[in-house]
Amino acid sequence: MGHRITLKQLQKMKGKEKIVMITAYDALFTSIFDPYVDMILVGDSLNMSFSGREDTISATIDQMIYHAQAVCSKAEKSFVLFDMPFGTYPDKETALKNAVRAYQETGVDAIKLEGGREKSEIIRYLSENAIAVFGHIGLKPQSVRSEGGYSIKGKSEAEKQEIIENALLLEEAGAVAIIIEGVKPDVAEAVTSAVSIPTIGIGAGVACDGQVLVWSDMLGFFDEFMPKFVKQYLDGGSLVKEAVQNYASEVKSGKFPDKEYTY
Ligand code: KIV
Repeated sequence: MGHRITLKQLQKMKGKEKIVMITAYDALFTSIFDPYVDMILVGDSLNMSFSGREDTISATIDQMIYHAQAVCSKAEKSFVLFDMPFGTYPDKETALKNAVRAYQETGVDAIKLEGGREKSEIIRYLSENAIAVFGHIGLKPQSVRSEGGYSIKGKSEAEKQEIIENALLLEEAGAVAIIIEGVKPDVAEAVTSAVSIPTIGIGAGVACDGQVLVWSDMLGFFDEFMPKFVKQYLDGGSLVKEAVQNYASEVKSGKFPDKEYTY
């Protein structure tokens, strides 16, 4: 059993070494990713790529705990981050109750919640109660229905200043790091130099202290839609389709199992 990267180690990487984060939702892929990344996010994106829903809104705290337990069982060296699903942090007490469940029922190292100014007092309360909290600003996927879709944030100067202000408020409230999603690169760059905690970007350009991608996007398994920021490092869907086609045709033809695969 290795030792997981600590929060202190992650924070020291700011400005010195880029932080690598990937999502994972199960034990199998966690054990594959773990040696090569610094952090694993049990993201509520699992509601789309794992559960087949249209957005992240219907993910529940029980589902997230189930997946986080699986991830934690195989995360030996990576720091594990738990995504608080929609509706589980509307006020301080509810947020603390659910964050405590995440800590006590899984082995995660920190939790993440979406929001800026409007969530800063909740983040302060969680921090005062020994919960390490990552903020998530810019494009917030849990706002997809209330905003009527996904859109890039920080396009105007006023919006850019608002995002920087939100980041500073989160840091002041005790957030230990910030995810910045779907912003112009100059916005992420300004946030990264304004705060002293690490910033991890997704669709936010190269200036962030680290990067995160959803595993099924970057390995080519999820092709329902592909945002511009996703680089596919593998055409996993095609490879798996070909393998399953071969298996099916060998079973149909009676070629599998031959002697080699028979007792
Ligand atoms: O749920 C998730 O995978 C996320 C990333 C998009 C940062 O929150």
